Amino acid sequence: MTARINLGQARLAPNPCYNCNMADFDYLDEKTVYLDAACQSLRPRLVVETLHKYYYEHNSCGERVKYPWGEKTDVLVEDARKKVLKLLKLKGKDYFVSFTLNTTYGVNLLLNEIDQKCVQKVVTSEIEHNSPFLATMAMSQRLGIPRVVLKRAEDGSLLMEDEDFVGAVVVINCAANFDGRRCANLKEVVKRVHKDGGIIIIDAAQAMAHYHEILEKTEADAICFSAHKMYAPSLGVMVVRRDLVPKLKLSFIGGGMVDDVFSDHYLLSAEKKELTHTIFEAGLQAWGEIVAFGEAIDWLEKRSKVEKKRLLEYTAELDEFLRGKEKVRMVGNEPNPTMSFYVEGMDSHLLGAALGKEGIMARTGYFCAHYYLDKVCKYPPLVRFSLSYATRESDIARVKKALAKI
Ligand SMILES: Cc1ncc(COP(=O)(O)O)c(C=O)c1O
Repeated sequence: MTARINLGQARLAPNPCYNCNMADFDYLDEKTVYLDAACQSLRPRLVVETLHKYYYEHNSCGERVKYPWGEKTDVLVEDARKKVLKLLKLKGKDYFVSFTLNTTYGVNLLLNEIDQKCVQKVVTSEIEHNSPFLATMAMSQRLGIPRVVLKRAEDGSLLMEDEDFVGAVVVINCAANFDGRRCANLKEVVKRVHKDGGIIIIDAAQAMAHYHEILEKTEADAICFSAHKMYAPSLGVMVVRRDLVPKLKLSFIGGGMVDDVFSDHYLLSAEKKELTHTIFEAGLQAWGEIVAFGEAIDWLEKRSKVEKKRLLEYTAELDEFLRGKEKVRMVGNEPNPTMSFYVEGMDSHLLGAALGKEGIMARTGYFCAHYYLDKVCKYPPLVRFSLSYATRESDIARVKKALAKI
């Protein structure tokens, strides 16, 4: 017997016992408090359904097939690329958008594909996630070039002092993953690196969900981020300046990137302006995830307009509660939806486990920022709460109650 698939049946059933006005996340029951959005945000129902829809209605490979399902996928994938540029107020004549696995993959791919003739040193900062921190280390070892680790101020500004960026590839985040501090002098950094003829890659993994404005009209050579931290399915995104392409020497190549192949050479599709993105897209892509990402961007834009204030209120409330406790030590001075702390005399991992028993999902440890949190600041392992548009008023009350109890 053939199984019949009906999209209606496939919808996740709303939880009947939870009377909430946030239909987007109504699959979340009242007792579950998800505070790990900095790792991956919860996905709104609409985004999950768009992914289902792709599988049930137009499961097809993008940019290759001529049958109707493929044509539909092509339109939606193209839309997703345009929406990314629109969100960042960047122009298609200057930038293109490629998809990858995640931020880590995008950063590594770029560092491997930049022609070593263009590089004399690699620069990063002390507050980076392991993703750029390790990738810059690997680049320095592979090419035998110096690696410089610059300091960052409390407001996230990169302290450049008299560093020169001649022949430099600079990789820094524009928002940190432990206290959300943003790079206050980002535009100045980009200008200075370019003035010296260097290349600048921005890790925007923690900025895109709630603070993408910081990147608007930035002139960076590349911006890498993860769609799974902005309410979309698991997916990496690279926004790349077209004039970076001549500085690349490809080593990672495959199907989907070429127009023609001969016995010992090939013609890249990227030669055509509308297909430049293929330069980083070897093999079949996560087409369904890309399509659902397009839907997530629309959702995020609408949500940001009406929910940002509420998110910041919940953030302020929890931040104030934590700072008011005698034994709590917060990382950073400013309230941010991503907040880390430790409690003097208490093991953070045990605290995380105890919170877990109360239904509160928070992260513990160093969140892949070992160098800064452990070696520079010498903090003990921390607890991290990361709030999002899925956070409810009742969640904050539950966290406060659970912490007081523990
Ligand atoms: C600032 C920052 N950069 C990079 C990453 C790596 O992201 P992904 O694991 O999606 O590659 C993260 C993940 O949390 C992050 O917070």
